[in-house]
Amino acid sequence: MGMSANLSRRKTLGLLAALPAGGLAHAYAARRKDGGLGEIAARAGVTYGASAGTVIFDDAEYRLLYLKHCKALTTDVDMKFDWLRPEAGKWDWGPADRLAAFAERTGMTLRGHALIWNENAPDWLKALSLAEIRRVFDEHIETVVARYAGRVAVWDVVNEPFWPGHGKPGGYRAGPWHEAFGPGYVERALKRARAADPHVKLAINEAHCERDDDVGRAIREGMSRLVAQLRDAGAPLDVLGFQGHLQPGRPYDDAAFAAFLRRFSGLELHITELDVNDETFPAAIRKRDALVARRYHDFLSAVLAVPAVNTVINWQLADHYSWYNDLARAGQLRSRRAPRPLPFDSAYRRKPAWFAMARAFRERKAA
Ligand code: XIL
Repeated sequence: MGMSANLSRRKTLGLLAALPAGGLAHAYAARRKDGGLGEIAARAGVTYGASAGTVIFDDAEYRLLYLKHCKALTTDVDMKFDWLRPEAGKWDWGPADRLAAFAERTGMTLRGHALIWNENAPDWLKALSLAEIRRVFDEHIETVVARYAGRVAVWDVVNEPFWPGHGKPGGYRAGPWHEAFGPGYVERALKRARAADPHVKLAINEAHCERDDDVGRAIREGMSRLVAQLRDAGAPLDVLGFQGHLQPGRPYDDAAFAAFLRRFSGLELHITELDVNDETFPAAIRKRDALVARRYHDFLSAVLAVPAVNTVINWQLADHYSWYNDLARAGQLRSRRAPRPLPFDSAYRRKPAWFAMARAFRERKAA
């Protein structure tokens, strides 16, 4: 991009920053009207957004993508337990507060991620007795949900309740919360969250249900059973989130996944962390981008045919900020090349995936 484009963009940002809060929200809304993905999705009855970290405050060009395309924002890591509470007795609210203020200022729907997850316990938590872990669980939910009451619109209250590989009864994921309460931690978390904020939407967010293999099917069954049990117990639950980290190296049957979604009457269904892992696709960028785009379109076409699906969130927006970069660097993907899983490339240009998503939204509107 040329120097002048950068300058004029900076000038625009300066002008926007000078406006009062109401004026800002208005200016951002006007900006989005011009073909943003969020506008296109809204016409199909879908709230579209992406996860974000505090990098959006340092990278003005990346921030502009959110302003133009997103009507919803999920905190990527900054509201997770280990980020809020890196050490015993210490709370680090700064980054989460900043993201919450940004969402408020720009009129984006904020999704808090993730209140209770068995995978991200810091060492200090693991060292506690079970009685202390139970106390921290209640305290955490009460403190965090109350702090953001009225600002967080949807909480991923429990993230990834199932992982059959851990060998626990019912296929539950192991970890400190499960150890402290058994599977009943899910119901307890929902009830405590509701007590701390009577209005926020409460979600269970799960991975791998999209897969058409033993793992995917086992987790689907777990989710169906859990939702039925929660209903019987009168537990508050508004939303089921399905992450949608698609891994085309594995088997998928999008129609079967859509049929599974149709089981959940009375709940909102959200696709919460959508991206396409391109590790098994050919290296040539044109081919790779085309295959990623096709995967986006096929998946979204199937799930958007389900009326209860009303939210689609990407996990970040531009390729170089995707979590797959960390996985590739750590040697955890089949390929170490730079991944291209998202709708924008690392120069912030729209990719075929962007157009595939837009097409899927437009087709839903037309249907
Ligand atoms: C990821 C973050 O984006 C990474 O920065 C972090 O290193 C690992 O976790 N499913 C989830 C998210 O629910 O919380 C994960 O986020 C991605 C998979």
